[in-house]
Amino acid sequence: MVMSECNIIPLINYLVNPGNILSSDCDSVENFAYKAKGSLNSQVSERDTQSSEMSDIHSASVPESFPMNGGDGPYSYAKNSVYQKAASDVAKEMIDEAIAEKLEIKILTATSNTLRIADLGCAVGPNTFMTMQNVLQAIERKYQNQDLTFKKPEFNVFFNDHAANDFNTLFASLPPDRQYFAAGVPGSFHGRLFPESSLHLVHSSQALQWLSKVPEGLLDKNSPAWNNRRIFYTTASNEVFNAYEAQFIKDMEVFLKARAEEIAVGLMVLNLPALPDGIHRSQLPFGLLFDFLASSLRDMVNEGLMNEAQLDSFNLPVYAPSPKEMALQVERNGCFSVERMELTDPASKINGPVDARKLIMHLRAGTEGVFSKHFGHEIVAEMFERCLGKSAKLSSLLESSNMKGAQLFLVLKRK
Ligand SMILES: C[S@@+](CC[C@H](N)C(=O)[O-])C[C@H]1O[C@@H](n2cnc3c(N)ncnc32)[C@H](O)[C@@H]1O
Repeated sequence: MVMSECNIIPLINYLVNPGNILSSDCDSVENFAYKAKGSLNSQVSERDTQSSEMSDIHSASVPESFPMNGGDGPYSYAKNSVYQKAASDVAKEMIDEAIAEKLEIKILTATSNTLRIADLGCAVGPNTFMTMQNVLQAIERKYQNQDLTFKKPEFNVFFNDHAANDFNTLFASLPPDRQYFAAGVPGSFHGRLFPESSLHLVHSSQALQWLSKVPEGLLDKNSPAWNNRRIFYTTASNEVFNAYEAQFIKDMEVFLKARAEEIAVGLMVLNLPALPDGIHRSQLPFGLLFDFLASSLRDMVNEGLMNEAQLDSFNLPVYAPSPKEMALQVERNGCFSVERMELTDPASKINGPVDARKLIMHLRAGTEGVFSKHFGHEIVAEMFERCLGKSAKLSSLLESSNMKGAQLFLVLKRK
């Protein structure tokens, strides 16, 4: 889906030395206002208490939940997530290194022989299974290399996504030979999902770019942030961009507070689309894709197939932060040290040039749900068909965009 557009980025790895960035002490967890309900033991435990900060989520015109296309049909996420896979592939080695160098298994298993791992925003596979498999293999390798004499741990893997995610397809495709106990955890990661101090390793790939709601002001004709006839911030005014940025900051605050409560000791590995420091937002590759979709919607308005108000009342709740912005949020939270932060190039894992048609299918698998909830299936099917018809134009647009280093990989360690 969306963020994987960043995977089309040619190589430039941008390295930030995180050691110098952070120093503040961990915030007191007593101040943390969120309370989770439910049990780690339940296979599907509904998170039924939302933070007060999130209580206005459902008032946004775009609903909070944006599931990927389920099932395994031609438009499904399972069949069209090759770009996300590339993002995971490019992160694999770095995850291996993080586990080898930073995960303190002896400490983690001091009180229990179970290692608890969560994948946040897992969608319907197959990428989540592949990543979890890699994580477990890396832990096993570490175990073997260290010739650890204590009992080998057992693994509990929690697959999290919105309740509307196609968990049926996910569970039906769980690898039969898996070496872990699997559980699904429905609910938003913009709030508590797990009991206090219960997790040892949290992973999330291509999911944190989704905001909890459409930013304030974008739908209000009287607001300077009104984003009329656009659906994203790439070519919008500074006021629109600032509204997106402000929402991302709020969401990250909630996300990091929740994870700080849930992770006892251990690591959090995040992989998400990013805007490299110093690059203008108009160069964001997936932003160009969104603009491309919006131009088809505008054509349809001009042809009288839908009304303008429908277009004006829709914006995609997605944001790609810069490394500096992310570092600042982690510093503000104060509970994690940045062990690694690096811009990566998932395009290096894709053979041949970017296939614009494939990219549109991939975009459809990831965003059809959020578009359809607002516009209805017919308009959205027409929008994607029109885009497929103009795929040659998209190819040249992408070639002229700045696609360097637009995936951000982070390893955070609970202080
Ligand atoms: C592009 S998919 C990535 C899936 C998978 N991690 C991968 O790499 O292929 C993003 C997923 O994040 C989920 N997501 C977005 N916001 C979320 C939230 N607040 N809480 C839980 N899941 C969320 C979406 O429903 C979607 O399944």
